[in-house]
Amino acid sequence: MSAIMDLLLFNIGELATLSHGDVSKPLSGTEMANREELIIESGSSMLISQGKIAKIGPEQELLEEFAPDMENGKSNLIEILNVNGAAIIPGLVDCHTHLLWSGDRSNEIRLRQKGLTYQDISNQGGGINKTVISTRKASQKELESIGHRNLLQSSNYGTTTIEAKSGYGLSVDSEIKILEATASLDGINHNVLPTWLGAHDFPKEKKPSEYMDELIHEQLPLVAEKNLAKWIDVFCEPGWFNLEQTETLVNNAKNFGLKSRLHVDEFVDSGGLSLAAELGSCSADHVGFSNSDSRDKANKSGTMQVFLPGTPYVLGKDLGEGIQECLENNWIFSLATDFNPNCQTLSLPFIASLATHRIGIDPLTALVACTRNPASTLNDELENCVGSINVGGPADFNILNAKSIDYWCQTPGVSPISKTFFSGSIVKSY
Ligand code: NIG
Ligand code: FE
Repeated sequence: MSAIMDLLLFNIGELATLSHGDVSKPLSGTEMANREELIIESGSSMLISQGKIAKIGPEQELLEEFAPDMENGKSNLIEILNVNGAAIIPGLVDCHTHLLWSGDRSNEIRLRQKGLTYQDISNQGGGINKTVISTRKASQKELESIGHRNLLQSSNYGTTTIEAKSGYGLSVDSEIKILEATASLDGINHNVLPTWLGAHDFPKEKKPSEYMDELIHEQLPLVAEKNLAKWIDVFCEPGWFNLEQTETLVNNAKNFGLKSRLHVDEFVDSGGLSLAAELGSCSADHVGFSNSDSRDKANKSGTMQVFLPGTPYVLGKDLGEGIQECLENNWIFSLATDFNPNCQTLSLPFIASLATHRIGIDPLTALVACTRNPASTLNDELENCVGSINVGGPADFNILNAKSIDYWCQTPGVSPISKTFFSGSIVKSY
């Protein structure tokens, strides 16, 4: 037994390693539900050392090797955790959030119930620009504490890697403030990966052409110089940024070394997904109204389609057919929360509950869509490949409150998780 060995988990139920084939690549179609390849049946043990998974193997073998003196669940040689037959899944990966903003827009539900659309509410002074007013007033310190509070929620639901967009500043100083607050949150209980979304809306005080100039000549160079974002995002939708503006922004960002992940086709099919595929974006998100040709094109270019069913859910809309279409055609896709002032959930188990209870997706498929697949759009920017459980990878995982991995998304509104590990340390335990 080496001195660096630090924790041995035993009596594990189903272990969803999701580590079939090249774990840095996403899965699609029936591969996503292949239990034989993705889950180890109960009876394994897992060794954690220096924040990484050091070994996975049959329980008796690992206990004999690392805790030969074990008596009454204790060993003098190593720390031991009896998982009591519970299932283990990877740390969840939320690849689309608007993590930092201030203010309240809960009044918008009554406006929607009166028949106003998202666009109407925005035109009447609600929507993104309303949140911009309150977020501009918040100090960086205030945003950091909002971030800590939000990340606590996210941890409670098992997320260990999270993407976080700016986009409620819409000015040089406010966008930088949000991104600097975001940077301060990385590495505590999550990997926090920042995206610059200065092109979330046009601020009230500027003409669109003036704001485009500001984005390209002021915000982008500063964000890049300060290394505050890994990606650019643009809200590409009629009424917000059009295809031409989106293309201009993404190409300018490329010159500064920023890749792209885009908001497209949320309300109508405006060709956003097709453009994202042409531009080689890492991901194209919402994609509720994208057509089949664009979905096929995105899959061929390796652009991940990220579905955000929490958003149509809170807007009172249909959850759409896109996910089933992707599954049937073996097109890669992911799920994410889209946490924002309208869609206030940081629970991927809840999002996956929508996918399983409302769309009919298999729970293991939904798990792959909330771990390994979204991770494949973020891993380039991480030291270690996340989204699966395998030897040499980071010890980011969740112990469930049940023996079956299917349980992970069957408790909407309640967390299915008893313990969350991030880099080998427990960040949440009930
Ligand atoms: O992804 N649609 C654009 N952005 C967010 C919502 C922003 C807001 O309404 O504050 C989204 O759903
Ligand atoms: Fe969004």
